[in-house]
This record gives sequence, C-alpha cells and structure tokens, in this order.
Amino acid sequence: MRSVEQIKQCREIVAQWRSERATIGFVPTMGALHQGHLSLVKKSLQAGHKTIVSVFVNPKQFGPNEDFAKYPRVLDMDAQLLKDAGADMLFAPMATEMYPDGFATKVSVNGLTEYLCGPFRPGHFEGVATVVTKLLNQVQANEAFFGDKDWQQLQVIKRLARDLDIPTRITGVPIVREEDGLALSSRNRYLEPGDRAKASLLYITLRSLADEIMAGDNIDDALKAARIGLFENGFNVDYLELADANTLVPARNLDKPVRLFVAAKLGATRLIDNMAVN
Ligand code: PAJ
Repeated sequence: MRSVEQIKQCREIVAQWRSERATIGFVPTMGALHQGHLSLVKKSLQAGHKTIVSVFVNPKQFGPNEDFAKYPRVLDMDAQLLKDAGADMLFAPMATEMYPDGFATKVSVNGLTEYLCGPFRPGHFEGVATVVTKLLNQVQANEAFFGDKDWQQLQVIKRLARDLDIPTRITGVPIVREEDGLALSSRNRYLEPGDRAKASLLYITLRSLADEIMAGDNIDDALKAARIGLFENGFNVDYLELADANTLVPARNLDKPVRLFVAAKLGATRLIDNMAVN
C-alpha cells in the first residue's frame, strides 16, 4: 500500500494508475477506522477500483464546543488496517496544504442542511461540503463511497457533486452495526461502560418505531412516546424525526420514501442513527 501526504504525490500515482487503465475508488474518512469504514473500502475494492482512503480530521466541520482536539488520531493503526484490507493508497493530507494561509472559500448546500443536524451543528455541513469538494477534486476518482450512517451528509455530498459538476459517482453504503444494533462510530469509544450498554436503545427505538409506523400507528404519537422513552433512559435527544429520505423535510405519511433519524447525547457523547421505514 502506498502512503502519501502531498496532493501532488496523490495525483501522480492516480495519473500512473489511469495510464494503466485502472478505475479509481475513493473513501474519505477522519481516521480511527472501524469495520464501518472498512465496509466502504471493501465495496470499492469489490467494484474493481484502485482504492484510495483519505484520513484527515477536518477542523472546519467541528464547532467551537465540539471534540476536534480530542478526536482520536491513530494513523499507524489506521495504516495497518487499510493494508490488511487491501487498500491501494492511504492519503493523509496536511492541514497546512488543505487550508493554506488566506484560504477563503466555502461550499454551502442550502435546503438539505436546514433540517436534522443542521440547526444543532451550525457551520458543520459547510465544513464537510468544503473539505469533501476539495478531496474529490484532489483525487478525481471514478466513484466515492460514503456511509448511510451519516445519511444527511450523504445527501449533502450527492447534491454538491451534482451542482458543481464533479464527475465522481457518489455511492452510499449500508450501516454496519455492533451485535446489539449500535451503529459503529469512532465516537463510541468515548462512551462510559454503563452508557455503552444503554446505547443500543437508539437502534431498538428506531426498529420498533419503524414497525409501529408501518403498522399504521399515529406518527406524531409514536415519535413523542419514543422521545420520552429515550429521555427516561438518560438520553438527551436533539431530535427524533420521520423525514423524507431525499429532501429530509419532516414527513407524516408514507407516500414517498421516508426514514427515521435520531441524534442524542449519552453523557458527553453525541450519537446519530437512521433507518428506512418503507
Ligand atoms: P468519518 O466519520 O470518519 O466517516 C467516514 C465515512 O465512513 C463516512 O462516509 C461515514 O458515513 C462512514 N461510516 C462511519 N460509520 C459507519 C458505519 N457504522 N457504517 C457504515 N459507514 C460508516 O464522515 C466523515 O468521516 C467526514 O465527515 C468526512 C466525510 C470524511 C469529511 O471530513
């Protein structure tokens, strides 16, 4: 596996692979890799791509009171996992090259970012959209892979790629979960042991809500009861919503594809999850 830091080196290797008629698959990450990330890598390899994984903890997508400083940074372990998974390149760009002095450009996707996590994390999706636009331009892959785990992020990225004519196909990959249903996340390691045991309640809540809604229960009542259930179990719920899977606008019927979305804090750790309903 190649391991590079400079954008120029990444581009040279991509040019070499292209001259050998390879297709390029790209998996952007912030590192602290787990099986969720590795499922994206596998998907890219299965598609027959030379597969590049970026690791960059993007300062612009963290709010002032969020966990940028203590976000796990374990590049050596990440490199080993990627090598074992069969990835072709680890691209770990430097902050000074990503954001040189005088950096002044922002990518902002309207509409989609007004819902769900948007109001709770001001500036977050602009930070994501800006760095992902840069990464997609740096690598110029045929296909880039993102997890359904961050469904809103996936929709934002699909939209910016379309709107800005980025010629990389954006592919979503199903959520990888622990045995008890908890969606894998780099942040799960922050959970206190007691909270870790409780955390699967998020998945269990979504699962039973989805069943209730499909059985025809009143949607508002079901959501309200589920919010109270989470609160009573110690979750600080930012939102628990049923929303249109594509526009993310709150939905109260099943006429279009809809999903359940939840964001809640357990102790200091903020967890998100989502699930298709129909
Ligand atoms: P990060 O949180 O490291 O996630 C990288 C990718 O892995 C994202 O596409 C995310 O949706 C996916 N992923 C994480 N947990 C997953 C799980 N349990 N199952 C399936 N996929 C999972 O998301 C980011 O980084 C950043 O915002 C980034 C896009 C890299 C921009 O900085």
